[in-house]
Amino acid sequence: MKYQKPKGTADILPQEAQLWDEVEAKSREVFRRYRYGEIRVPLFESYDLYARSSGDTSDIVTKEMYDFNDKGGRHMALRPEGTAGVVRAYVENKLYGPEFPKPYRVYYMGPMFRYERPQSGRQREFHQIGVEAFGSDSPLLDAETIQLGVDLLHSVGVHDLRLAINTLGDPETRQAYHQALVDYFTPHKAELSEDSQIRLAKNPLRILDSKDPQDKPLVADAPSILDYLTPAAQAHFSVVKESLDKLGIAYVVDPTMVRGLDYYNHTIFEIMTTSPAFGNKELTVLAGGRYDGLVEQVGGPALPGVGFGLGTERLMLLVQHNRPAEEAAPLNVYIASLSEPAGAEALVLAHAIREAGYTVDMDFLNRKAKSQFKTANRENAQLVITLGEDELAHSAASIKQMATGQQIQVPFAEVTTEFHKIYQQLVEEGK
Ligand code: HAM
Repeated sequence: MKYQKPKGTADILPQEAQLWDEVEAKSREVFRRYRYGEIRVPLFESYDLYARSSGDTSDIVTKEMYDFNDKGGRHMALRPEGTAGVVRAYVENKLYGPEFPKPYRVYYMGPMFRYERPQSGRQREFHQIGVEAFGSDSPLLDAETIQLGVDLLHSVGVHDLRLAINTLGDPETRQAYHQALVDYFTPHKAELSEDSQIRLAKNPLRILDSKDPQDKPLVADAPSILDYLTPAAQAHFSVVKESLDKLGIAYVVDPTMVRGLDYYNHTIFEIMTTSPAFGNKELTVLAGGRYDGLVEQVGGPALPGVGFGLGTERLMLLVQHNRPAEEAAPLNVYIASLSEPAGAEALVLAHAIREAGYTVDMDFLNRKAKSQFKTANRENAQLVITLGEDELAHSAASIKQMATGQQIQVPFAEVTTEFHKIYQQLVEEGK
Protein backbone atom coordinates (compact mmCIF):
# COMPACT_ATOMS: atom_id res chain seq x y z
CA MET A 1 0.00 0.00 0.00
CA LYS A 2 1.36 3.39 -0.99
CA TYR A 3 -0.44 5.33 1.73
CA GLN A 4 -1.57 4.19 5.15
CA LYS A 5 -3.38 6.08 7.85
CA PRO A 6 -1.09 7.69 10.41
CA LYS A 7 -0.28 5.51 13.43
CA GLY A 8 -2.87 5.85 16.16
CA THR A 9 -5.67 7.08 13.88
CA ALA A 10 -8.73 5.21 12.61
CA ASP A 11 -11.08 5.37 9.67
CA ILE A 12 -14.70 5.35 10.77
CA LEU A 13 -16.48 3.56 7.95
CA PRO A 14 -20.18 4.04 7.11
CA GLN A 15 -21.34 0.88 8.88
CA GLU A 16 -19.69 2.12 12.12
CA ALA A 17 -20.54 5.77 11.55
CA GLN A 18 -24.21 4.83 11.77
CA LEU A 19 -23.68 3.66 15.35
CA TRP A 20 -21.63 6.79 16.13
CA ASP A 21 -24.56 8.86 14.87
CA GLU A 22 -26.93 6.98 17.10
CA VAL A 23 -24.73 7.38 20.20
CA GLU A 24 -24.27 11.07 19.46
CA ALA A 25 -28.03 11.55 18.95
CA LYS A 26 -28.78 9.86 22.29
CA SER A 27 -26.15 12.03 24.00
CA ARG A 28 -27.66 15.18 22.51
CA GLU A 29 -31.04 14.14 23.88
CA VAL A 30 -29.61 13.73 27.39
CA PHE A 31 -27.83 17.12 27.10
CA ARG A 32 -31.07 18.76 26.02
CA ARG A 33 -32.78 17.59 29.20
CA TYR A 34 -29.96 19.04 31.30
CA ARG A 35 -30.10 22.33 29.36
CA TYR A 36 -26.66 22.02 27.79
CA GLY A 37 -26.15 23.80 24.45
CA GLU A 38 -23.62 22.73 21.84
CA ILE A 39 -20.38 24.67 21.38
CA ARG A 40 -17.95 24.15 18.49
CA VAL A 41 -14.46 25.52 19.00
CA PRO A 42 -11.31 25.31 16.84
CA LEU A 43 -9.32 22.09 16.54
CA PHE A 44 -6.13 24.06 17.09
CA GLU A 45 -5.27 27.00 19.28
CA SER A 46 -2.11 28.69 20.50
CA TYR A 47 0.27 26.23 22.14
CA ASP A 48 0.39 28.52 25.11
CA LEU A 49 -3.30 28.09 25.92
CA TYR A 50 -2.99 24.31 26.27
CA ALA A 51 0.45 24.43 27.90
CA ARG A 52 -0.66 26.86 30.59
CA SER A 53 -4.06 25.32 31.30
CA SER A 54 -3.09 21.61 31.26
CA GLY A 55 0.07 22.39 33.22
CA ASP A 56 3.64 22.34 32.00
CA THR A 57 4.52 19.27 34.06
CA SER A 58 1.62 17.17 32.76
CA ASP A 59 2.36 14.32 30.33
CA ILE A 60 -0.06 15.95 27.90
CA VAL A 61 2.11 19.04 27.62
CA THR A 62 5.58 17.55 28.07
CA LYS A 63 5.16 14.48 25.85
CA GLU A 64 1.92 14.33 23.94
CA MET A 65 1.20 17.63 22.26
CA TYR A 66 0.96 17.85 18.48
CA ASP A 67 2.46 21.30 18.18
CA PHE A 68 3.81 23.18 15.17
CA ASN A 69 4.82 26.60 13.96
CA ASP A 70 2.42 27.86 11.31
CA LYS A 71 3.57 29.75 8.23
CA GLY A 72 3.31 32.98 10.18
CA GLY A 73 5.66 31.63 12.84
CA ARG A 74 2.95 31.23 15.49
CA HIS A 75 3.38 28.32 17.88
CA MET A 76 0.12 26.35 17.62
CA ALA A 77 -1.08 22.95 18.82
CA LEU A 78 -3.83 20.52 17.88
CA ARG A 79 -6.18 20.35 20.84
CA PRO A 80 -5.25 17.56 23.27
CA GLU A 81 -8.55 18.02 25.14
CA GLY A 82 -11.68 20.18 25.02
CA THR A 83 -11.72 22.19 28.23
CA ALA A 84 -9.01 24.78 27.45
CA GLY A 85 -10.56 25.83 24.12
CA VAL A 86 -14.03 26.04 25.61
CA VAL A 87 -12.77 28.15 28.51
CA ARG A 88 -11.00 30.41 25.99
CA ALA A 89 -14.28 30.76 24.03
CA TYR A 90 -16.23 31.42 27.25
CA VAL A 91 -13.86 34.26 28.12
CA GLU A 92 -13.43 35.67 24.60
CA ASN A 93 -17.18 35.76 23.91
CA LYS A 94 -17.93 37.09 27.40
CA LEU A 95 -20.43 34.30 28.01
CA TYR A 96 -20.36 35.19 31.69
CA GLY A 97 -22.31 38.41 30.95
CA PRO A 98 -25.67 39.13 32.66
CA GLU A 99 -27.60 38.21 29.49
CA PHE A 100 -26.44 34.58 29.72
CA PRO A 101 -27.77 31.91 32.08
CA LYS A 102 -25.75 30.80 35.09
CA PRO A 103 -24.52 28.17 35.25
CA TYR A 104 -23.61 28.50 31.59
CA ARG A 105 -23.65 24.93 30.27
CA VAL A 106 -22.11 23.69 27.02
CA TYR A 107 -21.27 20.36 25.44
CA TYR A 108 -19.00 19.41 22.55
CA MET A 109 -18.17 16.39 20.43
CA GLY A 110 -15.10 16.03 18.30
CA PRO A 111 -11.54 14.87 17.73
CA MET A 112 -8.66 15.44 20.14
CA PHE A 113 -4.98 14.72 19.51
CA ARG A 114 -2.37 13.25 21.83
CA TYR A 115 0.94 11.70 20.87
CA GLU A 116 0.47 8.58 22.99
CA ARG A 117 1.47 4.96 22.50
CA PRO A 118 -1.52 3.50 20.64
CA GLN A 119 -3.29 0.44 22.03
CA SER A 120 -6.86 -0.80 22.34
CA GLY A 121 -8.93 2.20 23.46
CA ARG A 122 -5.99 4.58 23.14
CA GLN A 123 -5.34 6.49 19.95
CA ARG A 124 -3.44 9.56 18.81
CA GLU A 125 -6.50 11.01 17.18
CA PHE A 126 -9.47 10.15 19.37
CA HIS A 127 -12.85 11.70 20.07
CA GLN A 128 -14.47 13.09 23.15
CA ILE A 129 -17.98 13.97 24.11
CA GLY A 130 -17.53 16.58 26.80
CA VAL A 131 -19.39 19.08 28.94
CA GLU A 132 -18.44 22.23 30.82
CA ALA A 133 -20.61 24.26 33.22
CA PHE A 134 -19.45 27.71 34.32
CA GLY A 135 -20.33 30.17 37.01
CA SER A 136 -21.39 28.09 40.02
CA ASP A 137 -19.22 26.77 42.81
CA SER A 138 -22.03 24.69 44.27
CA PRO A 139 -21.10 21.10 45.10
CA LEU A 140 -24.62 20.25 43.92
CA LEU A 141 -23.45 21.08 40.40
CA ASP A 142 -20.57 18.60 40.81
CA ALA A 143 -23.13 15.95 41.72
CA GLU A 144 -25.39 16.94 38.81
CA THR A 145 -22.44 16.71 36.42
CA ILE A 146 -21.62 13.20 37.64
CA GLN A 147 -25.29 12.22 37.34
CA LEU A 148 -25.27 13.57 33.78
CA GLY A 149 -22.27 11.37 32.95
CA VAL A 150 -23.98 8.32 34.41
CA ASP A 151 -27.23 9.10 32.55
CA LEU A 152 -25.28 9.51 29.33
CA LEU A 153 -23.67 6.08 29.69
CA HIS A 154 -26.97 4.47 30.70
CA SER A 155 -28.72 6.05 27.70
CA VAL A 156 -26.50 4.05 25.34
CA GLY A 157 -26.84 0.83 27.30
CA VAL A 158 -23.60 0.91 29.33
CA HIS A 159 -24.42 -0.05 32.91
CA ASP A 160 -21.56 -1.92 34.51
CA LEU A 161 -19.75 1.12 35.89
CA ARG A 162 -17.40 1.99 38.73
CA LEU A 163 -17.30 5.60 39.85
CA ALA A 164 -14.24 6.82 41.74
CA ILE A 165 -14.13 10.30 43.25
CA ASN A 166 -11.58 12.37 45.10
CA THR A 167 -11.00 15.96 46.06
CA LEU A 168 -7.96 18.12 45.44
CA GLY A 169 -9.34 20.77 47.78
CA ASP A 170 -8.79 24.51 47.56
CA PRO A 171 -5.47 26.37 47.03
CA GLU A 172 -4.77 26.30 50.76
CA THR A 173 -5.26 22.53 50.86
CA ARG A 174 -3.01 22.14 47.85
CA GLN A 175 -0.27 24.20 49.43
CA ALA A 176 -0.28 22.16 52.64
CA TYR A 177 -0.42 18.90 50.72
CA HIS A 178 2.36 20.03 48.37
CA GLN A 179 4.62 20.54 51.38
CA ALA A 180 3.63 17.15 52.83
CA LEU A 181 4.57 15.45 49.56
CA VAL A 182 7.89 17.27 49.35
CA ASP A 183 8.66 16.24 52.95
CA TYR A 184 7.72 12.65 52.20
CA PHE A 185 9.43 12.16 48.82
CA THR A 186 12.62 14.18 49.32
CA PRO A 187 14.42 11.61 51.54
CA HIS A 188 13.61 8.98 48.84
CA LYS A 189 14.50 11.13 45.86
CA ALA A 190 17.15 8.73 44.56
CA GLU A 191 14.57 5.89 44.45
CA LEU A 192 12.22 7.86 42.20
CA SER A 193 12.19 7.61 38.41
CA GLU A 194 13.99 10.33 36.51
CA ASP A 195 10.70 11.97 35.51
CA SER A 196 9.45 11.97 39.08
CA GLN A 197 12.65 13.55 40.37
CA ILE A 198 11.86 16.48 38.07
CA ARG A 199 8.22 16.42 39.20
CA LEU A 200 9.35 16.59 42.83
CA ALA A 201 10.92 19.96 42.14
CA LYS A 202 8.19 21.30 39.88
CA ASN A 203 4.91 19.65 40.89
CA PRO A 204 5.09 16.79 43.40
CA LEU A 205 1.37 16.00 42.99
CA ARG A 206 2.20 14.68 39.51
CA ILE A 207 4.32 11.91 41.08
CA LEU A 208 1.09 10.32 42.32
CA ASP A 209 -0.02 9.99 38.67
CA SER A 210 3.24 8.35 37.57
CA LYS A 211 2.87 5.21 35.48
CA ASP A 212 6.50 4.23 36.13
CA PRO A 213 6.67 0.95 38.15
CA GLN A 214 9.73 2.33 39.94
CA ASP A 215 7.56 4.99 41.60
CA LYS A 216 4.68 2.71 42.58
CA PRO A 217 5.86 1.46 46.04
CA LEU A 218 6.67 4.96 47.22
CA VAL A 219 3.42 6.38 45.85
CA ALA A 220 1.45 3.68 47.66
CA ASP A 221 2.63 4.95 51.06
CA ALA A 222 2.44 8.67 50.26
CA PRO A 223 0.37 10.92 52.54
CA SER A 224 -3.33 11.23 51.65
CA ILE A 225 -4.75 14.56 50.56
CA LEU A 226 -7.85 13.84 52.64
CA ASP A 227 -5.76 14.55 55.75
CA TYR A 228 -4.91 18.05 54.52
CA LEU A 229 -8.33 19.41 53.53
CA THR A 230 -9.32 22.80 54.91
CA PRO A 231 -12.76 22.87 56.61
CA ALA A 232 -14.23 24.56 53.52
CA ALA A 233 -12.80 21.92 51.17
CA GLN A 234 -14.01 19.18 53.47
CA ALA A 235 -17.51 20.71 53.54
CA HIS A 236 -17.62 20.91 49.73
CA PHE A 237 -16.60 17.28 49.38
CA SER A 238 -19.11 16.17 52.04
CA VAL A 239 -22.00 17.74 50.11
CA VAL A 240 -20.84 16.03 46.91
CA LYS A 241 -20.80 12.65 48.66
CA GLU A 242 -24.15 13.22 50.38
CA SER A 243 -25.71 14.29 47.08
CA LEU A 244 -24.42 11.18 45.32
CA ASP A 245 -25.83 9.06 48.16
CA LYS A 246 -29.19 10.80 47.80
CA LEU A 247 -29.14 10.23 44.05
CA GLY A 248 -28.37 6.56 44.64
CA ILE A 249 -25.10 6.73 42.70
CA ALA A 250 -22.54 4.27 44.08
CA TYR A 251 -18.92 5.49 44.34
CA VAL A 252 -15.62 4.82 45.99
CA VAL A 253 -13.35 7.56 47.30
CA ASP A 254 -9.87 7.06 45.85
CA PRO A 255 -7.50 9.45 47.66
CA THR A 256 -4.64 8.58 45.26
CA MET A 257 -6.50 9.83 42.19
CA VAL A 258 -5.02 13.10 40.89
CA ARG A 259 -5.97 13.21 37.15
CA GLY A 260 -3.54 14.03 34.37
CA LEU A 261 -4.30 17.74 34.01
CA ASP A 262 -3.22 20.52 36.35
CA TYR A 263 -6.31 22.73 36.33
CA TYR A 264 -8.44 20.72 38.76
CA ASN A 265 -9.37 21.51 42.32
CA HIS A 266 -12.07 20.21 44.67
CA THR A 267 -14.02 17.33 43.15
CA ILE A 268 -12.43 15.03 40.57
CA PHE A 269 -13.99 11.83 39.26
CA GLU A 270 -13.52 8.95 36.86
CA ILE A 271 -16.02 6.39 35.61
CA MET A 272 -14.42 3.08 34.74
CA THR A 273 -15.65 -0.16 33.36
CA THR A 274 -14.20 -3.62 32.88
CA SER A 275 -15.41 -5.28 29.73
CA PRO A 276 -14.43 -8.04 27.32
CA ALA A 277 -14.50 -5.16 24.81
CA PHE A 278 -11.33 -3.91 26.56
CA GLY A 279 -9.79 -7.38 26.90
CA ASN A 280 -11.24 -7.54 30.44
CA LYS A 281 -9.01 -4.67 31.52
CA GLU A 282 -10.46 -1.77 33.46
CA LEU A 283 -10.52 1.41 31.40
CA THR A 284 -11.70 4.92 32.19
CA VAL A 285 -14.52 5.94 29.85
CA LEU A 286 -15.39 9.28 31.38
CA ALA A 287 -13.41 11.64 33.59
CA GLY A 288 -13.57 15.18 34.83
CA GLY A 289 -13.85 17.51 37.75
CA ARG A 290 -13.95 21.05 39.00
CA TYR A 291 -11.51 23.72 37.81
CA ASP A 292 -12.27 26.87 39.75
CA GLY A 293 -9.16 28.93 38.85
CA LEU A 294 -8.98 28.18 35.14
CA VAL A 295 -11.28 30.87 33.72
CA GLU A 296 -9.28 33.52 35.54
CA GLN A 297 -5.99 31.97 34.44
CA VAL A 298 -7.12 32.18 30.81
CA GLY A 299 -7.83 35.90 31.29
CA GLY A 300 -11.47 35.95 32.39
CA PRO A 301 -13.16 36.83 35.66
CA ALA A 302 -12.72 34.59 38.71
CA LEU A 303 -15.55 32.20 37.85
CA PRO A 304 -15.65 28.51 38.64
CA GLY A 305 -16.24 25.61 36.27
CA VAL A 306 -16.87 21.88 36.28
CA GLY A 307 -17.10 19.29 33.50
CA PHE A 308 -16.06 15.96 32.08
CA GLY A 309 -14.79 14.33 28.92
CA LEU A 310 -15.89 10.94 27.68
CA GLY A 311 -13.73 8.87 25.33
CA THR A 312 -16.00 8.19 22.37
CA GLU A 313 -13.91 5.32 20.92
CA ARG A 314 -13.97 3.58 24.30
CA LEU A 315 -17.71 4.09 24.52
CA MET A 316 -18.17 2.74 20.99
CA LEU A 317 -16.19 -0.42 21.88
CA LEU A 318 -18.62 -0.99 24.76
CA VAL A 319 -21.74 -0.23 22.75
CA GLN A 320 -20.63 -2.47 19.87
CA HIS A 321 -19.80 -5.28 22.25
CA ASN A 322 -23.16 -5.00 24.02
CA ARG A 323 -25.29 -5.52 21.00
CA PRO A 324 -25.27 -7.66 17.90
CA ALA A 325 -24.72 -6.03 14.54
CA GLU A 326 -27.95 -4.62 13.27
CA GLU A 327 -29.37 -5.43 9.88
CA ALA A 328 -28.91 -2.68 7.35
CA ALA A 329 -31.99 -0.49 6.85
CA PRO A 330 -34.02 -1.73 3.85
CA LEU A 331 -33.89 0.09 0.56
CA ASN A 332 -37.37 1.39 -0.27
CA VAL A 333 -37.04 1.38 -4.05
CA TYR A 334 -34.64 -0.01 -6.63
CA ILE A 335 -35.13 1.18 -10.20
CA ALA A 336 -34.04 -1.31 -12.85
CA SER A 337 -33.55 0.30 -16.24
CA LEU A 338 -33.24 -1.83 -19.34
CA SER A 339 -31.95 0.72 -21.87
CA GLU A 340 -30.10 4.02 -22.05
CA PRO A 341 -33.26 6.21 -22.39
CA ALA A 342 -34.77 4.22 -19.53
CA GLY A 343 -31.72 5.13 -17.42
CA ALA A 344 -32.36 8.83 -17.94
CA GLU A 345 -36.03 8.34 -16.98
CA ALA A 346 -34.91 6.38 -13.89
CA LEU A 347 -32.84 9.35 -12.76
CA VAL A 348 -35.93 11.59 -12.90
CA LEU A 349 -38.15 9.10 -11.04
CA ALA A 350 -35.45 8.46 -8.44
CA HIS A 351 -35.25 12.17 -7.70
CA ALA A 352 -39.03 12.51 -7.34
CA ILE A 353 -39.27 9.51 -5.00
CA ARG A 354 -36.36 10.75 -2.87
CA GLU A 355 -38.12 14.13 -2.63
CA ALA A 356 -41.08 12.24 -1.18
CA GLY A 357 -38.74 10.99 1.55
CA TYR A 358 -37.90 7.46 0.40
CA THR A 359 -34.56 5.77 -0.20
CA VAL A 360 -33.86 4.98 -3.83
CA ASP A 361 -31.03 3.39 -5.77
CA MET A 362 -30.61 2.50 -9.44
CA ASP A 363 -28.09 1.03 -11.84
CA PHE A 364 -25.03 3.03 -12.88
CA LEU A 365 -22.95 0.19 -14.29
CA ASN A 366 -24.96 -0.82 -17.38
CA ARG A 367 -25.73 -4.12 -15.76
CA LYS A 368 -27.92 -6.67 -17.46
CA ALA A 369 -31.51 -6.92 -16.19
CA LYS A 370 -30.84 -10.11 -14.24
CA SER A 371 -27.89 -8.61 -12.47
CA GLN A 372 -29.90 -5.48 -11.59
CA PHE A 373 -32.60 -7.62 -9.96
CA LYS A 374 -29.90 -9.47 -8.05
CA THR A 375 -28.57 -6.13 -6.78
CA ALA A 376 -32.09 -5.13 -5.73
CA ASN A 377 -32.36 -8.35 -3.72
CA ARG A 378 -29.00 -7.89 -2.10
CA GLU A 379 -29.90 -4.34 -1.11
CA ASN A 380 -33.08 -5.70 0.46
CA ALA A 381 -35.30 -3.53 -1.77
CA GLN A 382 -38.99 -3.40 -0.85
CA LEU A 383 -40.14 -2.26 -4.29
CA VAL A 384 -38.52 -2.67 -7.68
CA ILE A 385 -39.54 -0.36 -10.51
CA THR A 386 -38.72 -1.73 -13.93
CA LEU A 387 -38.27 0.59 -16.91
CA GLY A 388 -38.05 -1.18 -20.26
CA GLU A 389 -39.09 -0.29 -23.80
CA ASP A 390 -42.71 -1.10 -23.07
CA GLU A 391 -42.80 1.09 -20.00
CA LEU A 392 -41.21 4.01 -21.84
CA ALA A 393 -43.67 3.65 -24.74
CA HIS A 394 -46.62 3.85 -22.32
CA SER A 395 -45.00 6.34 -19.91
CA ALA A 396 -45.83 3.96 -17.11
CA ALA A 397 -43.65 2.14 -14.60
CA SER A 398 -43.98 -1.49 -13.51
CA ILE A 399 -43.75 -1.58 -9.74
CA LYS A 400 -43.20 -4.90 -8.05
CA GLN A 401 -43.54 -5.57 -4.37
CA MET A 402 -40.70 -7.95 -3.60
CA ALA A 403 -42.26 -9.61 -0.54
CA THR A 404 -45.45 -10.77 -2.32
CA GLY A 405 -44.49 -10.57 -5.98
CA GLN A 406 -47.51 -8.34 -6.61
CA GLN A 407 -46.92 -6.09 -9.63
CA ILE A 408 -48.80 -3.02 -10.87
CA GLN A 409 -48.45 -0.50 -13.70
CA VAL A 410 -48.48 3.16 -12.69
CA PRO A 411 -48.20 6.19 -15.01
CA PHE A 412 -44.94 8.13 -14.51
CA ALA A 413 -46.88 11.28 -13.58
CA GLU A 414 -48.51 9.41 -10.74
CA VAL A 415 -45.23 7.92 -9.52
CA THR A 416 -43.74 11.39 -9.26
CA THR A 417 -46.71 13.02 -7.52
CA GLU A 418 -48.41 10.17 -5.64
CA PHE A 419 -45.57 7.94 -4.54
CA HIS A 420 -46.54 8.10 -0.90
CA LYS A 421 -49.93 6.58 -1.69
CA ILE A 422 -48.43 3.90 -3.91
CA TYR A 423 -45.93 2.93 -1.20
CA GLN A 424 -48.62 2.73 1.47
CA GLN A 425 -50.85 0.62 -0.73
CA LEU A 426 -48.12 -1.79 -1.75
CA VAL A 427 -45.90 -2.05 1.30
CA GLU A 428 -47.72 -0.90 4.41
CA GLU A 429 -51.16 -2.33 3.75
CA GLY A 430 -49.59 -5.57 2.58
CA LYS A 431 -48.07 -6.14 6.06
P1 HAM B 1 -8.95 13.21 30.27
O1 HAM B 1 -9.03 12.32 31.46
O2 HAM B 1 -7.59 13.56 29.79
O3 HAM B 1 -9.78 14.51 30.62
O4 HAM B 1 -9.76 12.54 29.08
C1 HAM B 1 -11.10 12.17 29.23
C2 HAM B 1 -11.37 10.84 28.58
O5 HAM B 1 -10.96 10.85 27.21
C3 HAM B 1 -10.58 9.67 29.16
O6 HAM B 1 -11.21 9.17 30.31
C4 HAM B 1 -10.63 8.67 28.02
O7 HAM B 1 -11.86 7.97 28.02
C5 HAM B 1 -10.57 9.57 26.81
N1 HAM B 1 -9.19 9.59 26.28
C6 HAM B 1 -8.16 10.32 26.71
N2 HAM B 1 -7.06 10.08 25.96
C7 HAM B 1 -7.41 9.18 25.03
C8 HAM B 1 -6.73 8.52 23.95
N3 HAM B 1 -5.45 8.77 23.68
N4 HAM B 1 -7.42 7.63 23.19
C9 HAM B 1 -8.73 7.38 23.45
N5 HAM B 1 -9.42 7.97 24.44
C10 HAM B 1 -8.78 8.85 25.24
C11 HAM B 1 -9.95 15.58 29.76
O8 HAM B 1 -9.62 15.56 28.61
C12 HAM B 1 -10.65 16.74 30.40
N6 HAM B 1 -10.75 17.82 29.40
C13 HAM B 1 -12.03 16.35 30.90
C14 HAM B 1 -12.74 17.48 31.55
C15 HAM B 1 -13.68 18.27 30.99
N7 HAM B 1 -12.53 17.93 32.76
C16 HAM B 1 -13.32 18.98 32.99
N8 HAM B 1 -14.02 19.19 31.91
